[in-house]
Amino acid sequence: MKNLGGSYGFIDLFWKGMLLAEQKSLGRDLGKAHSQAIDYIQSLQREGRSDEVPRYVIISDFARIALHDLDEGESVTFPLADFYKNINLFAFIPGYKQHKLEHEDPINLQAVEIMGDLHDALEAGGYSGHELERLLVRILFCLFAEDTGIFERNSFQLFLENHTNPDGSDLGPQIAQFFQTLNKPKENRQKNLLEELAELPYVNGELFAESLGFAAFDADMRNRLLACTRFDWSRISPAVFGALFQAVMEPKERRQIGAHYTSERDILKVIGPLFLDNLKVALNRAGNDDNKLLKLQRQLAEIRLLDPACGCGNFLVVSYRELRLLELEILRRRLRKQKVHDVGAILMLDVDQMYGIEIEEWPVRIAEVAMWLMDHQMNQQLSEEFGEYFVRLPLRSSPHIHHGNALTTDWNDVLPSTECTHVLGNPPFTGKRFRSKDQSAEMALVWNGVRGNTKLDYVTC
Ligand SMILES: C[S@@+](CC[C@H](N)C(=O)[O-])C[C@H]1O[C@@H](n2cnc3c(N)ncnc32)[C@H](O)[C@@H]1O
Repeated sequence: MKNLGGSYGFIDLFWKGMLLAEQKSLGRDLGKAHSQAIDYIQSLQREGRSDEVPRYVIISDFARIALHDLDEGESVTFPLADFYKNINLFAFIPGYKQHKLEHEDPINLQAVEIMGDLHDALEAGGYSGHELERLLVRILFCLFAEDTGIFERNSFQLFLENHTNPDGSDLGPQIAQFFQTLNKPKENRQKNLLEELAELPYVNGELFAESLGFAAFDADMRNRLLACTRFDWSRISPAVFGALFQAVMEPKERRQIGAHYTSERDILKVIGPLFLDNLKVALNRAGNDDNKLLKLQRQLAEIRLLDPACGCGNFLVVSYRELRLLELEILRRRLRKQKVHDVGAILMLDVDQMYGIEIEEWPVRIAEVAMWLMDHQMNQQLSEEFGEYFVRLPLRSSPHIHHGNALTTDWNDVLPSTECTHVLGNPPFTGKRFRSKDQSAEMALVWNGVRGNTKLDYVTC
């Protein structure tokens, strides 16, 4: 890399887009090492390689270590002897640390664009409908998984790079084998499996259960998939996962993510008065009283939410996150910075407290995956604060997202009314003139002869 003076600059470690490290001998000037690092970054920008600019810079002289987060503009310096106390700051290296979530972040558009490219290429090759939706949900899960510590970092990318032909000819069956492995408990896997596959966790949760036809890839499609793997998916919030996926599936919507989805801001306006505000008041009242805090934590664990027209599950996903954040605060107060051996054992909330009904199939699948990803993100936050790294794998409990028509399904079959604590959501509004015959028939069934009901909106059901 040429610096401003035209000579070549060297750096001890450079991990594109992620980390740059410069190590000096004991007692040498850390400031000098810092300038060298910044010089290197500026050279990258000058050479039009902005996508390679790292987010983190680590400088050390064997006595002190400094970590700079360039995205957040935050820096810490501490003696090397205190490294163990600060280990959490380096959780980004194995992929255990998430970026801060920015709902309206332009990064979402970038994600849609690269994933949209892959979608279009597959569709143009004749792979479409249910199989295409399923394949893309699985790929999206793997992309998140390798960037957020569910898999070893970059394991999906490395598998594709090292074990598929550059012309894409064997990519379909290879990727199918990757998915099959995720669907099998480790003890049931073949002994002679490739090391990269043998190391994968068992995911379960139906996501990888169905066997899909092989998609035929070519060199260009393989390149597009590899481009997806190079994007940093830990920057995408699972709260926008549904909207993002819809934009990928429907090319016309690529520039307006969330056109049909309730924004996070509006969801918070609903769930605040519905249950969240009261819970926050209860938390304030509980102070640091362990009995009261435990009681409140148990109360949170009894909440059962039902969204009868849940789409990709945004109401459920955002509600779950908010409830988990409250639980985290309860645990902070109860445990007072103690490290915990079994992080999972102190948790009471789980995704199976969330219930939904949705008439279309693919949003049902997205809702499930988005809930798992949100759960994972909250587990990471918990791990960071209380000790051992905790991943809930295999996925044993699922959110209960029922694929069906909310007006012909008995909601008691989805969630008994005696257990349901709140019904929420943004159901479809459809006036008389815009209703299909089926919708009118559903309305007649629900209103059961009540006079004047045909003038009402579909949403009243
Ligand atoms: C306005 S969207 C809201 C989706 C989601 N709750 C949100 O706010 O992002 C309404 C959803 O209801 C679904 N829907 C429409 N009619 C339905 C019915 N009869 N039963 C169940 N879901 C239905 C649609 O497919 C759509 O996903």
